[in-house]
Amino acid sequence: MRLDVVTIFPEYLEPLNVSLVGKARARGQLDVRVHDLRAWTHDKHHTVDDTPYGGGPGMVMKPEPWGEALDEIVASGGPEAQPPVLVVPTPSGRPFTQELAVELSLAPWLVFTPARYEGIDRRVIEDYGDRFDVREVSIGDYVLAGGEAPVLVMVEAIARLLPGVLGNAESHRDDSFAPGVMADLLEGPVYTKPPEWRGHEIPEVLVSGHHGRIARWRRDQALARTAANRPDLIERADPEAWDKHDRAALEALGWERRTDGRFGRPGEAVEE
Ligand SMILES: C[S@@+](CC[C@H](N)C(=O)[O-])C[C@H]1O[C@@H](n2cnc3c(N)ncnc32)[C@H](O)[C@@H]1O
Repeated sequence: MRLDVVTIFPEYLEPLNVSLVGKARARGQLDVRVHDLRAWTHDKHHTVDDTPYGGGPGMVMKPEPWGEALDEIVASGGPEAQPPVLVVPTPSGRPFTQELAVELSLAPWLVFTPARYEGIDRRVIEDYGDRFDVREVSIGDYVLAGGEAPVLVMVEAIARLLPGVLGNAESHRDDSFAPGVMADLLEGPVYTKPPEWRGHEIPEVLVSGHHGRIARWRRDQALARTAANRPDLIERADPEAWDKHDRAALEALGWERRTDGRFGRPGEAVEE
């Protein structure tokens, strides 16, 4: 997979040389290219921002450097290359989820445009949106000073899904939000040796050697953790996601099954 990042702070992307992503780069599984947006400015001060039309506080990133940068990067793929997906970090974008990470991990080429100030002149997104697959993506309901940290977040989530990047290909199968069995659940607690630490023992079932019981215990823990930390996930889950043990576990946790099969907390209406 090829990843291009255009930024005014290339050094902010240094962590892409470390750990899992760094190793994937070294092995040639990821071709990461970080570009300094100021290389596409033509004035003495390498200006990338200007005052907003309509007034108001803050500055807006000028369209010209972004346009020139993106045109050159896209052209560098050659006429045969499948066009990249343009990923635009913005708090006003669609939420970045595991589902979106999986979808983006299937693209051969992603170009990220982390902004600063009040963001990028809208016409850049419109111009590329006419010709490319452009995704405006938010990593959460808060506002950061720039899009570089969101790019690090997204690249790590995407890279660990690429074939051969994780040592054990099964590792992300049971992750929280993993498509399939964990789609609506958070992962439960995990333990390693020693079996007793500061008086705390590991749950006995985990050394029973009984795979069915272990799987069920893990599922019950995932249900309990999700119910406690992310009740919204339980409420909106497809009723088909629950087997009869899940339903019993949720009822034991005080959840009520509605007529449409979905679960809600006692006394609360389920959002239709
Ligand atoms: C100060 S923010 C601009 C916020 C913008 N005025 C708004 O309220 O939507 C500057 C840049 O940081 C990045 N950014 C900040 N918060 C983000 C978030 N939650 N998700 C993704 N990108 C974010 C985006 O690249 C954004 O253009």
